[in-house]
Formats: sequence, structure tokens, C-alpha cells
Amino acid sequence: MTEKVMALPSLATERLILRERTLADLTASVELDQSQAVTEFIYGVWDGSPRHVTYVKRRIERQYGNGLGYWSIYSQDDPSQFLGWIMLTPVEGNPTLVKIGWRLVRDHWGHGIATEAAQAVTQYAFLTLNLSKLAAGVNPANERGQRVAEKLGFTFKQPISVGDEQLALYILTREHWTDLQRK
Ligand SMILES: CC(C)(COP(=O)(O)OP(=O)(O)OC[C@H]1O[C@@H](n2cnc3c(N)ncnc32)[C@H](O)[C@@H]1OP(=O)(O)O)[C@@H](O)C(=O)NCCC(=O)NCCS
Repeated sequence: MTEKVMALPSLATERLILRERTLADLTASVELDQSQAVTEFIYGVWDGSPRHVTYVKRRIERQYGNGLGYWSIYSQDDPSQFLGWIMLTPVEGNPTLVKIGWRLVRDHWGHGIATEAAQAVTQYAFLTLNLSKLAAGVNPANERGQRVAEKLGFTFKQPISVGDEQLALYILTREHWTDLQRK
């Protein structure tokens, strides 16, 4: 019997709406990756080729487990404008650990959007999914990516190799996150 996988709930923040990413966001997701600035620190083929499109399509269609997956980020002011995505997915080789990741259209950087979206997803991960910790793998040269993780309360744990990539592993425990909410 196939286990029914729970759909991702939509999450609202002050300025944003996060909705489960669907194939309707395929073109926008592929365009997002083609900005050299956006994928500067991310290993992969991001040239709009059929290989790239197929990769993103598979990421959209894949089941990640209950309550996990990708959300597209939209502005409350213009709910049709795709601003980027944010995800919660199991860590390859360690499915009990869940990682968070984010990618925004270049024009929308620097307004705290990644941080605002990630705060909502982090709260959902700890309070709804009841996860005990979250991981984030960031290229050590990606200062913006690291800064978002640090603003959320993630702390650097250790360098890790993921395939051919060398990343910095950041961890946020529910305990530490709960302490931060009290401050
Ligand atoms: C990483 C990313 C999601 C950040 O989005 P964002 O909405 O601009 O992030 P925020 O505005 O919430 O926060 C960015 C923080 O980085 C800081 N920052 C901006 N430029 C920076 C730089 N060159 N070096 C260090 N920090 C920088 C900002 O000042 C801000 O911190 P502050 O609020 O303390 O000032 C976005 O840059 C992106 O999509 N990058 C490409 C994809 C990517 O690298 N994803 C992360 C993989 S781990």
C-alpha cells in the first residue's frame, strides 16, 4: 500500500505567501537559476538546457516525505509574482536529518525576504513537524547564504563534502530556536 503523503500547507508572513511549488512554477524556477549571481555558489547545470529543465521538473514532482518539499515564495501585494523558493528536504544519506535551503530572484535580494520566509518555515519545521533540529549546507564563500542561516540562529558545525561540493554544515536545534523566540 502506498502511504499518503501530506500536502505542504501554505504559510503566510507579514509580506509573503509560501505555496507548495508546482509545475506552474517550472519556467520561473528555471529562469531563476540562469542568473549567474543566483547560482554562483551552487554546483549544477543552470543553463536552461533540457537537462536543467528536467532536473528542476523532477525536483518539483518528487515526494520528499510528510510535510517536506519546496514552497514557492510570492509577495502578498502581488500573489502572481514568483520571488523564489524555499525548501525542507531530507539530507542525502541521512534521511532522519532535514535541511532547509532558499533561492531568490536576483531583483529581490537585500530586503530580508529570505530571512522572513525561512523564519516561517523554521517555525513550521519545529512546531508543526516537531523536528528536533534542522541542517543547512552553505558554500563557505556564500556570505549572503551564511548570513541568512546565522540570522535564524544556525551555528556552524563542520565542513562537509556533498558529492563534489565542499560545504559548511550549519545546525539549528529546536531547543536553541525556542530560546531565541523568548528573547
Ligand atoms: C541567499 C539569499 C537567499 C539571501 O536572500 P535575501 O532576501 O537577500 O536575504 P536577506 O535580505 O534576508 O538577508 C541577507 C543578509 O545578508 C547580508 N548580506 C548582503 N550582502 C552580503 C555580502 N556581500 N556579504 C555578507 N552579507 C551580506 C545582508 O546584509 C543581510 O543581513 P542583514 O539583514 O544582517 O543586513 C539570496 O542572496 C539568494 O537567493 N542567493 C542565491 C542562492 C543561494 O545562494 N542560496 C543559498 C544557498 S545556502
